[in-house]
Amino acid sequence: MKILVTGGAGFIGANFLNLLVPRHPEHTFVNADKLTYAANLASLASIAERPNYQFTRVDIADAAAVDAAFEEHRPDVVVHFAAESHVDRSISGPREFVRTNIEGTFNLLEAARRTWGTDHGLFHHVSTDEVYGSLGDEGLFTEDTRYDPSSPYSASKAASDHLVRAYHRTFKLPVKLTNCSNNYGPLQFPEKLIPLMILNAQDGKPLPVYGQGTNVRDWLYVQDHCEAIWTVVNRGKVGETYNIGGNNEVRNIDVVHKLCELIAQETGRPSDALLGLITYVKDRPGHDLRYAIDASKIRRDLDWGPSETFDTGLRKTVRWYLDNGAWIEGVRTGEYRNWIQQNYERR
Ligand code: NAD
Ligand code: DAU
Repeated sequence: MKILVTGGAGFIGANFLNLLVPRHPEHTFVNADKLTYAANLASLASIAERPNYQFTRVDIADAAAVDAAFEEHRPDVVVHFAAESHVDRSISGPREFVRTNIEGTFNLLEAARRTWGTDHGLFHHVSTDEVYGSLGDEGLFTEDTRYDPSSPYSASKAASDHLVRAYHRTFKLPVKLTNCSNNYGPLQFPEKLIPLMILNAQDGKPLPVYGQGTNVRDWLYVQDHCEAIWTVVNRGKVGETYNIGGNNEVRNIDVVHKLCELIAQETGRPSDALLGLITYVKDRPGHDLRYAIDASKIRRDLDWGPSETFDTGLRKTVRWYLDNGAWIEGVRTGEYRNWIQQNYERR
């Protein structure tokens, strides 16, 4: 099988390829990525020379480039990760989110429809629980929860989900969708909560917690997400959506406390000094209060379940950032410094 993986140089895409390329020499994986600020080819160093792996630089918002990639590679499966993924960036600059997440997905669907017709291929769309909006204190997101996105990011992902389903209903394109909760683990760009806190703590910089720190996220180790996607690609039903989550709700402030404890244990630094870096800052506009996934469908129908607990996964993650200074230096470009300055200077 030839599998076109979009956004394979980002956090989840790279973890997906690192897991599956060595495990499946019988399949060819083509990584199509624009290489935005969030991408890092160093994340793929261990598979770069494998005979069943190729990289091609493609901007999915460029229809001609997407068509050319389909012509050249004739994929049997598309696993579509490529997106602008950071909520805060969608608030300060939403245009790129519409371009990549909506127009880019549309270009891929059009190329898939032209290449496959109705009886060949599989388009697996990787999406997020943020399309469902915010929960109050009670309840869980199921596959039937009404869409109610809050940020330009989640609205653009919601639009892309609707397009994918529309191409199935209207054109019979074989599609599958997964909507997952917050991922953490190795190779995550340090604009997201967990790697940002680890790096700032290491440097003795403030740990900026939005609002009161009482927002809740449902954290899943990235490799568990990748295994779930692969399970759905292979055994999920065409036309269906599967929610993915680890049944692991944690308040942001408790995540930060846990990280301080772990960093203290792993480095021998006093945890009080790390906890003292916590700084409450201005909240994110439209900040969703709580996400929590009901993953009973994928657990029941496809027998998927996470392997990591939050304790084991978070310790591995902290260890990975402590041990991979060269990777971290590689992402700390001028662009990263600009983002940190711009996002936090007035908070
Ligand atoms: P990321 O920001 O780390 O990586 C995104 C990748 O997409 C990068 O390699 C980037 O270069 C590429 N990309 C961006 N624009 C592109 C374009 N126009 N053309 C081609 N490539 C482009 O994102 P991530 O956290 O790995 O998320 C991957 C997918 O999973 C996204 O669709 C996201 O919505 C979804 N998702 C993420 C999470 C999470 O917690 N991170 C949870 C659920 C779903
Ligand atoms: O739920 C899945 C989504 O999870 C994915 O679709 C997104 O691509 C991914 O970015 C993530 O979105 P969040 O907005 O939940 O992740 P982020 O890491 O930005 O923030 C997690 C929580 O921590 C959120 O409540 C905001 C808060 N936060 C974040 C940052 C960056 C802080 O308190 N301080 C910070 O500096």
